[in-house]
Amino acid sequence: MARTYNISLLPGDGIGKEISSEANKIIEWISKKSCDFDISLHEEEVGGASIDKYGTPLSDETLERIKKSDAIILGAVGGPKWEGMDFEKRPERGLLKIRKELDLFANLRPAIVFDPLIHSSSLKPEIIKDLDILIIRELTGGIYFGEPRGIKKIGENEFKGYNTLVYTSNEIERIAKVAFETAMTRSKKLCSVDKANVLESTELWRNIMIETSKQYPDVELSHMYVDNASMQLVRNPKQFDVIVTTNMFGDILSDCASMLTGSLGMLPSASIGISSDGKKKAMYEPVHGSAPDISGKGIANPLAMILSIGMMFKYSFDNQSIYELINSAVKSVLDKGYRTQDIFSNDKIMLSTEEMGNKVLEEIKQ
Ligand code: IPM
Ligand code: MG
Repeated sequence: MARTYNISLLPGDGIGKEISSEANKIIEWISKKSCDFDISLHEEEVGGASIDKYGTPLSDETLERIKKSDAIILGAVGGPKWEGMDFEKRPERGLLKIRKELDLFANLRPAIVFDPLIHSSSLKPEIIKDLDILIIRELTGGIYFGEPRGIKKIGENEFKGYNTLVYTSNEIERIAKVAFETAMTRSKKLCSVDKANVLESTELWRNIMIETSKQYPDVELSHMYVDNASMQLVRNPKQFDVIVTTNMFGDILSDCASMLTGSLGMLPSASIGISSDGKKKAMYEPVHGSAPDISGKGIANPLAMILSIGMMFKYSFDNQSIYELINSAVKSVLDKGYRTQDIFSNDKIMLSTEEMGNKVLEEIKQ
């Protein structure tokens, strides 16, 4: 009997909804076509959409349901409507809660330059041609979650805002292991990015990377301070293959890396953890946000979301062939000159979000 994959789809806010519809179409078709598995997809609320419905960015009931699913797909969260709210009630807290509660500590953010998009990047073509790098961002520790944190009144008219950058050796060891294992499947080059000259927590990070490297003698490990790494990423990005870094540095560097590829609308991601029973847990989401400025206009680029679906088949369902099918469908659509607005140039054919989704589906069908 074919097995059933239970997938939670959380469209979230802004363009999250539009790009989720396109992902949905593709998943449905793949499910219908496959004899090996069925997919049962259920939609859930997160972020502002959940605030509007349940008064919280992620309800306990939703969390319980998505914990039971085989994979989670998330669109994007946030928007001006919820910006003034209390910190704990903001849409972003919903996303961070999923990451933390499911212990999705390893965030894989590939930045791949598709040849037809080489002129969409603001960098010179020779700098980015054939670029294929992978940023591995620690996702459940560091300054994003460190305690103490808050804003305190410390005088008549004076306040103190504070956060804590903290890493335990355990947290570093497990992300190091993912990074080295991943480097082994690629070109065996790993660059660890830290700020060990200033921050003790990242000095520990560096020491543990060096310690872990002893188990992987074939991997060439290098270290870079984050300020230098951000400069090197735009100066000569092809010197990198796999980059491993902390939560906050990874957040910043991955936005930077996305622009090498031409558009933030092209970058997929996978957030992976291992639950206590040894089962892999994972969430897939585009790296871009909810883009309230273009939301509802039907012009958002659904490709990062569609590529995230590909990553789901690879990492959650061990299905390399569907991963490759989705990637090559995206590539063919770009080869044929189809573009959404963010990657459009004059000699190309402009498509809406929905038209782009349909084009990719047509390619997959072939
Ligand atoms: C990302 C986003 C999130 C982050 C926000 C929406 C909380 O920027 O996934 O990169 O900072 O991690
Ligand atoms: Mg970010």
